Amino acid sequence: MKIRIIELVEKYFDITFVDFVPKQFADCEISLTKLSKNEELLFSIETFNEICANTLSKSGPRRKEQWELGWQSSGIFLDENISRLPIPLYFTKNNIIRLKGELYNIDNKYAEIYILRVLQNFYLNAAKKEFVGINCIAEYGCGTGHNLDFLNQIGFGKENLYGYDWAESAIDRIKKCSFLEKSNFDTIDYFDKLSFKSPNKEFIAFTFASLEQTGVNFKNFMNYLFDNENCVGGLHIEPIWELLPNTSTPRLISRLYCQNRNYLTGFFDFMKLNEEFKNIKILNYNLNGFGSKFIEGYIPIIWKKNGKI
Ligand SMILES: C[S@@+](CC[C@H](N)C(=O)[O-])C[C@H]1O[C@@H](n2cnc3c(N)ncnc32)[C@H](O)[C@@H]1O
Repeated sequence: MKIRIIELVEKYFDITFVDFVPKQFADCEISLTKLSKNEELLFSIETFNEICANTLSKSGPRRKEQWELGWQSSGIFLDENISRLPIPLYFTKNNIIRLKGELYNIDNKYAEIYILRVLQNFYLNAAKKEFVGINCIAEYGCGTGHNLDFLNQIGFGKENLYGYDWAESAIDRIKKCSFLEKSNFDTIDYFDKLSFKSPNKEFIAFTFASLEQTGVNFKNFMNYLFDNENCVGGLHIEPIWELLPNTSTPRLISRLYCQNRNYLTGFFDFMKLNEEFKNIKILNYNLNGFGSKFIEGYIPIIWKKNGKI
């Protein structure tokens, strides 16, 4: 089936997107074919075998060097029709995406990033409605900065866009571009409390597939945000795998894959607990069913501090 991104989004996501779809992505047409039962079975067996072989790389402190190298050159590409800053190569390697938790073959290597742009646009606008008057966004684990470039392109002023990552190669590259504010970018390491930084004005914390890299070691960072006077709340789009039901094979594979790669674990329970202890409130989370080949990785959760805004 040939389908335009805008139609795909309206059909497979339970939200009205029309106002939120950037035109250059909305009109792109892709071919979409649901995997047959046999294909799904084959995919599941192969992935399950890979998980059991335990050869997949694990997230954690020892991966810093790999991220540095990746963001230097080996893991990025530039296509100025999509972004003025490089995009991670891993986005283009999938020939399969997940919609409503099911697996689909795609013929366009940019399909995932196009859909993500629509989702980022939608969820960030939803967050802005919750945090009236707050225009400042700080992306933690911002990588090449392409998400922030996108926010700039859809109207967020560069003076209000901040980015942090542990990879110096990524931060150095962003600082060289002219359309974001050099002084708003710096290194931080989720595993090192002393490295944490934030804007010196009220901000919404944003993470996009970066807290995933911390496994169970996200608590110091989240406590930093909870205790930070300027942080009004956060939007995290992450593989919160515990929320996925065990009832379908693709979702089961996603759960196992996340655990095997040491991705974010215990995040939702931690947030629930802190509704009691840190005076925060989870406003929304959404099992939108969207993901890449191996994981349903883009589950948004929005929280805010009680009494702020
Ligand atoms: C999957 S990438 C996502 C990057 C970016 N958010 C994007 O959407 O392209 C994960 C990012 O988290 C960063 N990261 C991993 N571990 C980190 C840590 N301990 N502290 C800060 N950043 C970290 C990596 O350098 C990388 O940029």
